Amino acid sequence: MKTLRIGMIGYKFMGKAHSNAWRQVDKFFPVAATPQLHTLCGRDRAAVKAAAKKYGWSRAVTRWEEVVADPEIDIVDISTANDTHAEIAIAAARAGKHVLCEKPLALNVTQARAMLAAVKKAGVVHMVCHNYRRIPALAQARKMIAAGDLGRIFHYRARYLQDWIVDPEFPLVWRLQNTIAGSGAHGDINAHIIDLGRFLIGEFSEVCGRMETFIKERPLPGAKRKKGRVTVDDAVVTLGKFKNGTLACLEASRFALGRKNHIQVEINGSKGSLVFDFEDMNRLKYFNNADPDDRRGYRDIIVTEGVHPYVGAWWPGGHIIGYEHTFVHTFFDFIQAVVKGKPVQPTFADGLQNQIVMEAIEKSSRQRRWVKVGV
Ligand SMILES: NC(=O)c1ccc[n+]([C@@H]2O[C@H](COP(=O)([O-])OP(=O)(O)OC[C@H]3O[C@@H](n4cnc5c(N)ncnc54)[C@H](O)[C@@H]3O)[C@@H](O)[C@H]2O)c1
Repeated sequence: MKTLRIGMIGYKFMGKAHSNAWRQVDKFFPVAATPQLHTLCGRDRAAVKAAAKKYGWSRAVTRWEEVVADPEIDIVDISTANDTHAEIAIAAARAGKHVLCEKPLALNVTQARAMLAAVKKAGVVHMVCHNYRRIPALAQARKMIAAGDLGRIFHYRARYLQDWIVDPEFPLVWRLQNTIAGSGAHGDINAHIIDLGRFLIGEFSEVCGRMETFIKERPLPGAKRKKGRVTVDDAVVTLGKFKNGTLACLEASRFALGRKNHIQVEINGSKGSLVFDFEDMNRLKYFNNADPDDRRGYRDIIVTEGVHPYVGAWWPGGHIIGYEHTFVHTFFDFIQAVVKGKPVQPTFADGLQNQIVMEAIEKSSRQRRWVKVGV
């Protein structure tokens, strides 16, 4: 069996999730090549060495340039903060590596365009890690929408809510700094529901957004008394329209007390509706208007059967899966694409289009008006 050697940069939250997925994927899915956890990169020598040992990586290095330059490495997995994505991805593509990059693809549209140009020029396989596309219930939703089961789609309603920065004493971490994160709730979580909108419904044509920063200053990390300015949004609400006429209503916030990682999607069409809630991620609620009058109502599809996307590879029917599995599904499809030399969604072109939608929302919020979404 062919082996694909992985070099991964970043070893915290996503580094842990990705390490787990790289380790699990060939144990459950019929991969065309086995991933080898070759090199892990982080800036702190002792910490990256400890992480490599814990997560099963053979080597640990402190400079991402070493990963990109290593002729043994086939795939570069970028799990670092957003300000590093473009530079690493472009260098990796130039070195002929296939690139898997965390979302948001870049800090802005200009960077995302350069990244797409670099991977295209190099002819490498590229993917953005919008792992929620591969939640089986949402993959099933897409199948049903594509099959016409919902008829003409009228509404895409989505919210992604968290509450981890409501406390004004929460420090000014990288996610609250524009130069490192690009934006706040917008790029971090709105990006996911924009991506799901594009995955499930189609392309946005117009948006009207409002971004808000509720807490303008926060303590600098490690210096309780000194404060710094928050340079990103805390929350963003968006009205939008898709090219196919569907109306969109999106909400992303880190200020929704009680909501930890709450993702809800509702789609209403002329023949039926679908409802998804990440806190109950193995369930897809389906309303079919063709059901007999006296028993019409939302039914629960428990998306755990062999006929549903991805889940057949895991456990016997009815045995539910969780968050970490979405990364395994993503990496399975990526590995297959690398072996075949074929594109795999969401590509960097999807990452760029996501960034274009985000920039249109930012412009709309600044200028207080509806803005057309370009390409
Ligand atoms: N797909 C998802 O659902 C999801 C969830 C969370 C985060 N993310 C994305 O993943 C990326 C990482 O987020 P995270 O939550 O893991 O952040 P984190 O703060 O937990 O980890 C960031 C890692 O990047 C490393 N890093 C930063 N700059 C570096 C550099 N120049 N060289 C080497 N290492 C560097 C840090 O040392 C750390 O290991 C972000 O782009 C974020 O938006 C995606």
